[in-house]
Formats: sequence, C-alpha cells, structure tokens
Amino acid sequence: MTFPSPDRLSSRKGGILNTQSCGIIGDCMNSTAPIETAANVGIEPASIRDLGALRHVEKVCFPKDAWPLMDLIGVLTFPSVVRLKAVISKDMVGFIAGDIRRLEGVAWIATVAVLPEYRGKGIGGALLQACEDKISLKRIRLCVRVSNELAIHLYEHRGYERVGEWSRYYQDGESALVMEKKK
Ligand SMILES: CC(C)(COP(=O)(O)OP(=O)(O)OC[C@H]1O[C@@H](n2cnc3c(N)ncnc32)[C@H](O)[C@@H]1OP(=O)(O)O)[C@@H](O)C(=O)NCCC(=O)NCCS
Repeated sequence: MTFPSPDRLSSRKGGILNTQSCGIIGDCMNSTAPIETAANVGIEPASIRDLGALRHVEKVCFPKDAWPLMDLIGVLTFPSVVRLKAVISKDMVGFIAGDIRRLEGVAWIATVAVLPEYRGKGIGGALLQACEDKISLKRIRLCVRVSNELAIHLYEHRGYERVGEWSRYYQDGESALVMEKKK
C-alpha cells in the first residue's frame, strides 16, 4: 500500500503507512494509561476515534502540507506507530507520532504539532518526551523544514543533532534538515 502524498516529514516518504512488516509492537506502546504533564494538560494515547480532532490540528498547524485523510487514518491505526495526543478538558490540543522501524533500528518522529493558542507552554516538549519514552530503539530521527526555527530549537534543546540535509525535499521546494538523537 502506498500513499503518494507530499511529505512534510521523512517517515512519510519512507512510508509511515507502509511499515506493517516491521514487526509486532507490544501493547505497552499505546497503552491507555494517561501521562500527566504540567497544569491541566494530559498526554494520552490517541486512536482512530481522534480522527476528526487530528484533522483539525493538521489543517491548522500545517497549512501548506496537511496530511490527507488516508495518512491520518494510517497514523492512527498502524501497529508500528506510537501516537499520543495532548488533551485539555477532553479536547486534543496537540499530537505526536513516532514510526518504529525495528528492521532499520531507528524510529522516526513522523509529526508533532500543537494548536497555536497552546504553544510556548511546554506541550510540544512534553509530547516529544512522552513519545521518546515509549520508543525502545536507541536512535530517533526526524526531519524539519530548514526555516522552522522554533521546531529546530525544540529539537536541539532536547538532544537532537543535525545529521544531514535533503535538498528541495518539500513540495514547495524547501529543504529538510535531518536530525537525530541517540538515547
Ligand atoms: C513545534 C511545535 C510543536 C512546538 O510546540 P510548543 O508546544 O510550542 O513547544 P514548547 O512549548 O515545548 O516549546 C518548545 C521551545 O520553543 C520555545 N517557544 C515556543 N513558543 C515560542 C514562542 N512563541 N516564542 C519563543 N519561543 C517559543 C519554548 O520556550 C521552548 O524552548 P525551550 O525548549 O528552550 O524551553 C509547535 O510550534 C507547532 O505545532 N508548530 C507547527 C507545526 C510544526 O512545525 N511542527 C514541527 C514539524 S517538524
């Protein structure tokens, strides 16, 4: 199964929706126990029931290249994906997905997003930390638009290093910075 959607993040191009063969992932990866973070924000496992809310987060946070519906369904259902949502008063305000590629020995952060009105409060960092905690692989990678200084700052502050650049990676011609963290 292939999804010819334009990629925002590398794991989509490599196929976040094409990784079922990478192995069965234990239930603990998306277990339903909520992880509490600062104040009134909860970090909880996401599921297909969050499709509508995730669609909204995507459209708002990635106006240039929001994932199409099939990619959203994939990221909420494929067994090799860690998916977590940040919740305030039962509403999704942020989302992260980690694509576990056991055969390659690397996990890719496929997406992370927080609604604009909730940014700068530590929610993006908390999502990243919670996702990393659920990934047992030692190497975690991601890619990000070279112009996305806030996100690059977030990643560098949390131990990700620049390991490469993919020229003109995004559909609009912008290049991607590839970053990696070794746990
Ligand atoms: C990137 C993103 C997920 C960060 O979410 P967030 O909830 O704002 O993240 P945090 O509050 O944990 O802040 C992360 C860092 O950025 C800083 N920051 C956040 N918002 C800021 C702002 N408006 N001005 C200055 N610094 C800011 C924080 O101080 C923090 O720095 P620190 O690590 O030194 O403490 C969010 O900006 C977003 O959704 N952006 C659009 C989607 C996107 O680009 N995703 C990344 C794709 S690779």
